[in-house]
Amino acid sequence: MNVSIAGTGTMARAIATRVLAGGHEVVFIGTHIAKAEDLADELTGLGTVRAAEEVDSDILVLAVPYSAAPHVVRQHAAELDGTVVIDISNPVDDSFEPMEVELGSGAQVIAAAAPDGAPVVKAFNTTFAGTLMAGEVAGQPLDVFIAGDDEAAKAKVARLVQDGGLRPIDAGPLRRARELEALGYLHMAIQHTRDTLFATAVKVLP
Ligand SMILES: NC(=O)c1ccc[n+]([C@@H]2O[C@H](COP(=O)([O-])OP(=O)(O)OC[C@H]3O[C@@H](n4cnc5c(N)ncnc54)[C@H](OP(=O)(O)O)[C@@H]3O)[C@@H](O)[C@H]2O)c1
Repeated sequence: MNVSIAGTGTMARAIATRVLAGGHEVVFIGTHIAKAEDLADELTGLGTVRAAEEVDSDILVLAVPYSAAPHVVRQHAAELDGTVVIDISNPVDDSFEPMEVELGSGAQVIAAAAPDGAPVVKAFNTTFAGTLMAGEVAGQPLDVFIAGDDEAAKAKVARLVQDGGLRPIDAGPLRRARELEALGYLHMAIQHTRDTLFATAVKVLP
């Protein structure tokens, strides 16, 4: 698969690492093409990776703050027919407090901004970037919870997750993103209780 990633920050790099480990292609879309090119150059040893200004991919990952995600979707709307959009965000404000979002979840707000033909899937919001780089915590593959209303889109995301050495877990329809966003927030909020800051995983056992 060909995976566009909007953003060149911590999660863009981490998700790209797993996508490339799975043998898929990455196309970075940055706020500036130079940023996307720099990150593509940096990761080139891991697989097929490049930079572009437009989305022309099977999947678009929104590796941007929640506040920017609907804007990015609108900005690329004309390029998204047939593209699965992955929302990885945890909606927090500047004080790192959970935001009140309309429609039940950030993912549903992003879905409302997406054009027809671009199904939105929630995934990766409970996995910290550092753990994604490694792909595991304590010798266990990360669980990636996937919520969405389009089964074919979810299956594509599950394959991407599995190919990257992680375990996909079907969390149900897109409205379950509300619970996933709460879980993602809780996971962040308890980090001060751990010695291993942001190196933990939310895992279903077995
Ligand atoms: N970090 C984690 O462990 C983690 C875990 C789970 C989920 N998440 C979610 O992942 C998302 C990204 O987090 P991050 O930690 O990767 O943040 P980050 O390192 O700050 O990177 C954010 C990226 O978004 C870009 N961006 C900001 N505003 C934009 C806009 N209006 N249009 C296009 N791009 C824009 C930034 O570009 P510039 O640098 O040019 O401003 C940057 O490349 C967030 O929604 C967060 O909730 C993060």
